[in-house]
Amino acid sequence: MLPTEKQYVQWHENETLRNARWLSQSNQVPPARIVLVDDKTTADQAYRLSCAGTSMLWDGDFHNARQLLQALTRRIERSEQRKTSKAANKNKSAKPTAESVLPETLPNLFHQQRQAQAQRSRVLSRLLLKLDTRYVSQLRRAPDVSVACTAAFGELDEPCLLSFRDLQGALGAAGWRAKGVPIENLGLSIFPHYGVFAPTRHEYVQLLLDAPLPNEHDIAFDIGTGTGLLAIILAQRGMQQVIATDLNPRALACASENFARLESAVQLQQADLFPTDAPVANLIVCNPPWLPAKPTSPLEYAVYDANSTMLRGFLQGAKQHLAEQGEVWLILSDLAEHLQLRSRDELLGWFADAGLAVKYRLDTQPKHGRSQDTTDPLFAARSAEITSLWCLVPFDN
Ligand SMILES: C[S@@+](CC[C@H](N)C(=O)[O-])C[C@H]1O[C@@H](n2cnc3c(N)ncnc32)[C@H](O)[C@@H]1O
Repeated sequence: MLPTEKQYVQWHENETLRNARWLSQSNQVPPARIVLVDDKTTADQAYRLSCAGTSMLWDGDFHNARQLLQALTRRIERSEQRKTSKAANKNKSAKPTAESVLPETLPNLFHQQRQAQAQRSRVLSRLLLKLDTRYVSQLRRAPDVSVACTAAFGELDEPCLLSFRDLQGALGAAGWRAKGVPIENLGLSIFPHYGVFAPTRHEYVQLLLDAPLPNEHDIAFDIGTGTGLLAIILAQRGMQQVIATDLNPRALACASENFARLESAVQLQQADLFPTDAPVANLIVCNPPWLPAKPTSPLEYAVYDANSTMLRGFLQGAKQHLAEQGEVWLILSDLAEHLQLRSRDELLGWFADAGLAVKYRLDTQPKHGRSQDTTDPLFAARSAEITSLWCLVPFDN
């Protein structure tokens, strides 16, 4: 979706001042310095310009720009590797392993990794392209990107400048939206939209299938529904009325499309946490963002929850929305605990403060690539990660 406050950017082309709408999905400010680059620009020149804070407007072949972006990525990776080995030498130890990472350094490593990602994103986002009204590119061999861009960013009736990286994000999202994410244990596919949490890591789905339903099946809530996946499971498992909420308009549009496609009679509401004007529920499910850290862009809101605000808000409000004998199913990974960003005692304390007791817990171990990457400085934490379904029930304070 386009930001409501329009931003514009100016640059010179053959001494003529040009200007266009500035689009940045990662909230990058409009660039102050833009130079024209093309097929003759080498990757080293582009890397130097970008590292020095100069944005580059591409005026060459579309596919060569993609290759330039790959070449820039390789240079950033090499620079990151050099920094890691320098730090390792300084600490007189080899590359960090599960055994060599001291627990107290984990939060620092996590924050360093996020800073490195942000720096990588800034450098790569300095390769720009211009699109005319309705996202038409005049570059040589440019594909039609208008459908993907309209789906990701909304209608546009003026020329714009955006980063190739954001364009690639929109094209990638259009691919997922067209082919869907197969959810093997359900035998169906979910179709994510741009900017909506895509359930590509869906080991927690089995937890939702394995947990015994509460005795009463009248009504269930799915809080923060994203693509609508969990609400669909609740409806398929026999909850008679399911109400799903989300704050993100993109998620609401996406869930609505998935419900229609699967003929799932789920009701949808834009709400901060719990649905308004709804009866109490027999079951309330929530899969909040798992890491307590500040999102740096709207695209990160489904992954990072600053100060665990959503998690704590959900727990605090759950009891008053529960019917008698009702249950809360909280889906949460313990990665934050392994990274020492939150402690188990803290989590259990939030349950107790909310008047909720643990009835049982189901666990699963993620199998995704990052949990097996021994070169990742956070391997120790990632390889120990467990995702749980916490079944919580009210107790009388
Ligand atoms: C980790 S995603 C989970 C999505 C989906 N339930 C799933 O499991 O695939 C968290 C979702 O919570 C939504 N969210 C974050 N804060 C919220 C709030 N205060 N009220 C409602 N939804 C919220 C986000 O937009 C996002 O879609």
